[in-house]
Amino acid sequence: MHFLKDRGYALPSSEVTPQATYHSRRDLLKLLATGAAGATLTAWAAREALAQTATARPNKLAALPGARSTIAGGMTMEKLTPYADLTSYNNFYEFGTDKSDPGQNAHTLKTRPWTVAIEGEVKKPKVYDIDELIKLSTLEERIYRLRCVEGWSMVIPWVGYSLAELIKRVEPTGNAKYIEFVTLADAKTMPYVGSRVLDWPYVEGLRIDEAMHPLALLAFGLYGEVLPNQNGAPVRAVVPWKYGFKSGKSIVKIRFTEKEPRTSWVKAGPGEYGFYSNVNPNVDHPRWSQATERRIGEDGLFQKKRPTLMFNGYEAQVGQLYAGMDLKKFF
Ligand code: MTE
Repeated sequence: MHFLKDRGYALPSSEVTPQATYHSRRDLLKLLATGAAGATLTAWAAREALAQTATARPNKLAALPGARSTIAGGMTMEKLTPYADLTSYNNFYEFGTDKSDPGQNAHTLKTRPWTVAIEGEVKKPKVYDIDELIKLSTLEERIYRLRCVEGWSMVIPWVGYSLAELIKRVEPTGNAKYIEFVTLADAKTMPYVGSRVLDWPYVEGLRIDEAMHPLALLAFGLYGEVLPNQNGAPVRAVVPWKYGFKSGKSIVKIRFTEKEPRTSWVKAGPGEYGFYSNVNPNVDHPRWSQATERRIGEDGLFQKKRPTLMFNGYEAQVGQLYAGMDLKKFF
């Protein structure tokens, strides 16, 4: 970004993958043995999953045990972005503005001890230790596209649980209309905090009904392991129908508010980045089109780009949240 210059929520059938991904041979066989994979696990998908096993990376970071796969949907059938690509092409401005900076610099981030404070319009405010937060609900694997406003995308097997699980436990009051994610701003470990590139800490927000939508994920890992630092360890949001910048990394506070939060990118460029930031091929960024995208690790710079889908392909699941809204105005 540069301003200067499916489980009940099944995807459209063309998008749904029956478990077409990288699960280990053992997990896959287990699923087949128990029948849990059901009718959706076609021979094609099984072949596909086994093929991807060959390229699955061995554990390098700590495994996130207990992650069960979400067989029934919310997944795309596209190829997963290789681990090497999704950890070396990042936006995490606290560690620099080049795509390669976070991968090179984020080793200084200390992810323990770590707490996440729940504040504001809730009946049960609480400071969660990260290890308590991880155990709050069942971890699931969700394969979501992440589409950046800059025009690139990735397909990532995230591990986490619906943000709604946390929200329900802290009991929002009737005044809670929005939630605000506040992320770590530690100048000692984050070399660009203090630079004028953004107003720190990095802040993002959602309307409460968006945050409660089951697709909105609180993620602790990817590829079955804890999150790499550059991808937002130890906890980040993943809101797959919105541009990537809505998915705040390294969250330390979640605040429930009555007023729409002033988010970092809206402060930086209100004419360029709106609060809603829904992926929308029909509403261009003032300086470039949003109609197409380049898949990191697959599509070369000169290759024909792929079309961007409304709400990043999740229109059937989330479209009703915006019924009657002028999405050109609320961009
Ligand atoms: N969170 C923080 N704290 N700081 C950031 O600079 N960048 C956002 C988002 N979350 C950002 C952040 C942007 S612009 C994008 S596209 C995604 O993270 C990128 O996530 P990824 O690097 O894991 O692909």
